Amino acid sequence: MSKTPTRTQREGFSSRRVFIFAAIGSAVGLGNIWRFPYVAYDNGGGAFLIPYLVALLTAGLPILFFDYAIGHRARASSPLAFRRLNRKTEFIGWWHMGVNFIIAIYYAAIIAWAARYTFFSFNQAWGDDPQGFFFKEFLQIPDTPALTFDFVPGILFPILLIWVLLAIVMSLGVQKGVGQANVVFIPVLLIMFLLLVLYSLTLPGASAGLDALFTPDWSALTKPEVWVAAYGQIFFSLSVGFGIMVTYASYLKQKSDLSGTGAVVGFANSSFELLAGIGVFAALGFMASAAGTEVSEVATSGLGLAFIAFPTIISQAPGGAIIGFLFFGSLLFAGFTSIISVIEVMVAGIEDKFSLGRVRSTWLVILPIATLSVLFMSTTSGIFVLDILDNFINQFGILTVGLLSIIVVAYLLRGLPILADHVNERSSLKLGRIWMVLLAVITPLILGYSLINTLISLLQEPYEGYPDQLLNIFGWGMVALVLLAAIVVSFLPWSTRSRAALTPPAPPISGGKVQGDYQDPAANQLLKGDS
Ligand code: ALA
Repeated sequence: MSKTPTRTQREGFSSRRVFIFAAIGSAVGLGNIWRFPYVAYDNGGGAFLIPYLVALLTAGLPILFFDYAIGHRARASSPLAFRRLNRKTEFIGWWHMGVNFIIAIYYAAIIAWAARYTFFSFNQAWGDDPQGFFFKEFLQIPDTPALTFDFVPGILFPILLIWVLLAIVMSLGVQKGVGQANVVFIPVLLIMFLLLVLYSLTLPGASAGLDALFTPDWSALTKPEVWVAAYGQIFFSLSVGFGIMVTYASYLKQKSDLSGTGAVVGFANSSFELLAGIGVFAALGFMASAAGTEVSEVATSGLGLAFIAFPTIISQAPGGAIIGFLFFGSLLFAGFTSIISVIEVMVAGIEDKFSLGRVRSTWLVILPIATLSVLFMSTTSGIFVLDILDNFINQFGILTVGLLSIIVVAYLLRGLPILADHVNERSSLKLGRIWMVLLAVITPLILGYSLINTLISLLQEPYEGYPDQLLNIFGWGMVALVLLAAIVVSFLPWSTRSRAALTPPAPPISGGKVQGDYQDPAANQLLKGDS
């Protein structure tokens, strides 16, 4: 039976089922559909499945359990959850908020493009030149990359529409908005994507595509960059390490099987990813055979795959409009359910710190992001800014804050045994020494190696040859601003109304010990609201 939450009860998901839909909705996103197939193909094909599986088991799931434990133990948004670990670590939660702020700016634009391309599929608006259409007619990019404020109405209005829809969903609240949207959209996404995969498999040449994807190149396993690619893919794809799963887990009921639920989410996400690989490469196999060329000639990543290769396939395949509708529709739903989770991190954080209520917090988050999204993404230079933001926030936002949070909790607070206890008290899958070693040793080594490598290569060569002005503002400048803002906001006072909420149901951790008393009144009230 649902109860109206009082001020001392936080709203949450009505059941474990709704949580699983929401967590899968967050994990399954653009990263699964357009990133995974090419990353797998480019890093050893079938052989990549080994590092990928190892990355899932040694980092993906362990960090997912880590995020769940922090969020669920504190029953709070990321800033408050980290503050409840230790007062000094609140800034990590605000860093998460900053990372999500940046992701939302450009993620909304890609969803808006997918929405337009869903309609373009019906009349194949790109004619016989999908590439020229995408860059010149649709995005209207200038010849040289430079910041412009020339708006493209065909992008501006869909972006605005996405933001209006997001504002509506988010202001409805955790269960009625976030939860229900996922319960409806995820089955639709699954059905559409399954149909797309089945249809792609019937196309002539599909088997050549699958051969290209799955033929193992065993020598790839000896290359460190292949392992780094596997870990990077798992991190982004599972939405771990940047506050999303902390926030979502805080909405789970007190007696929830955290690790069992996490395993379901992790394997569901990877299954979807594998399905995407099969569907995308079957379609690329058809494209190659229609052009009388090799799959390696047509395989491409990210934007090129979605907005150039797929339109080409749609034009050539029998029933192309159906493929277009299913592919771009899937991108739209996968992207929308992921951006919901990105925005939720921020709405929850603002709600906790400033006690503004759900609707006001939603507007406070959405208005500035939507404004920046329109300002920078719906202009002719949008794609350059998008590419830079995406690359820098992935490396120096997601990976860095993920690494830092693990190091802080594992070594400075020595909190892993306490988090493991929290999970083990209520879960089927017990976390022990292996989990701690994976988190405290293996993950930092791999993330550290990956970050140092990227840093060196970015310092040696400007990313994608973009001009310094763009890289300094939207790359390095943005990263510095996010970190600075996180530190500053963490010093702002908490609203007096939310001070009550600050009375911790989870006492802080320091030097490997729990400080304080579990039996405080606020904690008990929160627990009672759970039944
Ligand atoms: N996990 C989301 C994705 O794969 C962010 O796109």
